[in-house]
Amino acid sequence: MGRVRKSLGRRIDGLAKWLLRFRAVSVPARVVANSSYAWSFISRTDRIRTNRLRDRLIQGDLPEHISIIMDGNRRFAWSSNLERDMGHHQGKEKLKEVMDWVLDLGIPYFTVYALSTENMRERSEDELGLLYDLYVAGLDEIAEDPRIHSRGVRVQAVGRLDSLPSRVREAIDRAQNRTASHSDFLFTVCLAYGGREEIVDAVREVAAEHASGDLALESIDSAQISSKMYTADLPDPDLVIRTSGEERISNFLLWQIAYSELHFTDVHWPSFSKNDLYEAIDSYQSRGRRYGE
Ligand code: FPP
Repeated sequence: MGRVRKSLGRRIDGLAKWLLRFRAVSVPARVVANSSYAWSFISRTDRIRTNRLRDRLIQGDLPEHISIIMDGNRRFAWSSNLERDMGHHQGKEKLKEVMDWVLDLGIPYFTVYALSTENMRERSEDELGLLYDLYVAGLDEIAEDPRIHSRGVRVQAVGRLDSLPSRVREAIDRAQNRTASHSDFLFTVCLAYGGREEIVDAVREVAAEHASGDLALESIDSAQISSKMYTADLPDPDLVIRTSGEERISNFLLWQIAYSELHFTDVHWPSFSKNDLYEAIDSYQSRGRRYGE
């Protein structure tokens, strides 16, 4: 069905391209395409398509835990002739929007990769300063957002939080404390986070317990290690989405994604749309998860 639709689409595109070679067609076509009526028609059709997709998705098995590698803020800015900082700013705004869409679907666990240990080593002081300001502003906005409280969202940050500046740690405390009593949804922000570092921290804890005689060698298994992860209180992600065209994991939740479905999309994070989220879930629903069967 999908293949037939694709080939029909290609044929229509070919026909349109051929027709546009004639002035009598191309001139009025340009006028129509640039008119506000055309854009309003297109955005209306897009909205209808997105809503139909949503209706279909909620009939199926939705993922319980979605995690996103938000990538492409700077490329979005540079490709739109904006300053780098504007890309990050739009990225923060996008996160609040996407959180709304995830809540609307009733998906209880949502995790984002907001700052890696590598970012902290490689980005300039100036860029890191801006990012820290955005985390403070974003966490405060989220903590005060009435929708977070009416939907019962608990917010937590995980990573090597000690390495963050005090203003970020204070904003994390404020967001965690303001939402501590909620339990319907869990929103996790990975900050100063590295998957290998998380595994190292877990192994250190296990080694310390073994050395003190509290943990026998034969009791060390994958459940033990999982229980020492920063994310011990949430299920492993069902679906990991990465924006901006890179197809790699970049040290994100290495232990937890052993059986996750991965979805890569070319759109830069600030341009990520509701339809992009739904398409990722659609692709997730079309896969048979096998867990080694
Ligand atoms: C990757 O884009 C994005 C980041 C390093 C930071 C993402 C931060 C936000 C979206 C704000 C989050 C706010 C809160 C409250 C957690 P990039 O800089 O790597 O862009 P590039 O891939 O184009 O270089």
